Amino acid sequence: MKTIEKDQETLTFAKRLKQSTRVNHDGVDTLVMQSQPFANEKNYANFLRLQHIFHKTVAPLYQNNVLQELFPGLGELPRLSAVESDLNDLGLSTAVDAASVEKITDLHQAIGWLYCSEGSNIGAAFLYKETQKLNFDAEHGANHLAAHPEGRAPHWRKFVAQLDALTLTEQQEALAIQGAMSAFAFYKKTLASLAVQSPL
Ligand code: HEM
Repeated sequence: MKTIEKDQETLTFAKRLKQSTRVNHDGVDTLVMQSQPFANEKNYANFLRLQHIFHKTVAPLYQNNVLQELFPGLGELPRLSAVESDLNDLGLSTAVDAASVEKITDLHQAIGWLYCSEGSNIGAAFLYKETQKLNFDAEHGANHLAAHPEGRAPHWRKFVAQLDALTLTEQQEALAIQGAMSAFAFYKKTLASLAVQSPL
């Protein structure tokens, strides 16, 4: 009979990322829903600002040469310009205080940030549906939450396969997991700071 330890050892890298950040994810999910992002346009605008700061932070990673080699096609995936077009659709500024954007310099941590960013498009299926209540869609206001042209699941499976094809040392993997945790923590911190600036 397999032990729990054995199960953990045999998990793929992508599954280990998921397992290590499940609590972080669920905390962020709960906080986002508590902010009632789809209750009205004002709340949605605040959610867009949050998404904007997050995608602005990860955007340079999608252009990094080393990461592009590890993840073929990466250069076509960033959602920053889609969030900016959503902000424009709502008549909102795309200016961001440089201090609110984090600089990610460690390439192995960057892998965890990318995991967080790409994975967020899975849960976005539900978020995208909710935007319809506010009459937003892929053409207007909710472009960054729309599915990848390949479809969400096939796109995610491709990214997971790329993660699992990496040959990281134990230390590099630990950095990647740390990066994913930092990404969730950053999202949480940004959400809290925006909530202070713009209470419900
Ligand atoms: C209200 C907000 C959110 C909801 C309702 C939500 C929901 C979900 C759901 C249902 C999944 C699929 C889980 C599964 O297949 O087991 C998922 C996956 C994921 N979400 Fe979220 N999510 C939210 C916000 C976020 C945010 C803000 C981020 C990142 C900053 C994020 C990152 C991820 C990641 C990385 C995965 C992939 C997990 C994996 O299979 O490895 N989510 N989310």
